Amino acid sequence: MRKPIVAGNWKMNRTSDEAETLARGVVDAVLGADGVDVVVCPPHTALERVSGAVKGSSVGLGAQNMHWEAEGAYTGEVSGAMLLTCGCEYVILGHSERRQYFGETDQTVNKRLKTALDVGLKPIVCVGETLEERKSEVTDQVVRKQVTGGLEGILANEAQTLVLAYEPVWAIGTGLTATPDQADAVHGMIRQVLVDLYDETVAQSVRIQYGGSMKPDNAADLLGQPNIDGGLIGGAALDADSFAAIVKAAI
Ligand code: PGA
Repeated sequence: MRKPIVAGNWKMNRTSDEAETLARGVVDAVLGADGVDVVVCPPHTALERVSGAVKGSSVGLGAQNMHWEAEGAYTGEVSGAMLLTCGCEYVILGHSERRQYFGETDQTVNKRLKTALDVGLKPIVCVGETLEERKSEVTDQVVRKQVTGGLEGILANEAQTLVLAYEPVWAIGTGLTATPDQADAVHGMIRQVLVDLYDETVAQSVRIQYGGSMKPDNAADLLGQPNIDGGLIGGAALDADSFAAIVKAAI
């Protein structure tokens, strides 16, 4: 059985003070929610403060991106070691907003992934098709290519520990959600890609989150699908009670 994992992607929201307050709210709101991994991913500037706020609780800390190099002249970037020293356990890689606005490709996701695994961070690797791609009925090809390219050169024992997030771009922040059946079909396809790349053991171990307008009122249906192992939550993660309601729907 895969343990569900629900992560809040706070994106570019919350100053350090606000982030600490939200993190404390999440810690309180998810008290007693056992059987699910809970992660919050604030902006880099708030990581240390949030690390302090979640310390000693069941809530884990993640970052939203990292660079693949260990250090050097990469203005504006942060390294995996820097995230670790801020208390991070997880890191989101290849979010569609990074792909869309900051030139992220399967190749750069792959580089970040290798470094993240090397330094001991737990990656959450995001994939998903655009609206045009879904309309053109190329969702499976697009997502297969993202998974295959993103995981290139990753060994089976490493792949087994990964969290993937299927986030249809057209459902992110739009209020549109993939239906449970639509989402589960892609999750099942991703699991088949993992069988093709590795084997059944790896495919059955990897946790695949759904992301894209997941809210308290649609979470239970999505999370009830056999191949959906949790959620990557944007908007609803900015409210502790909404986020906790989704966490509880995952149990
Ligand atoms: P959303 O964002 O829940 O606001 O749609 C999800 C995400 O981008 O991770």
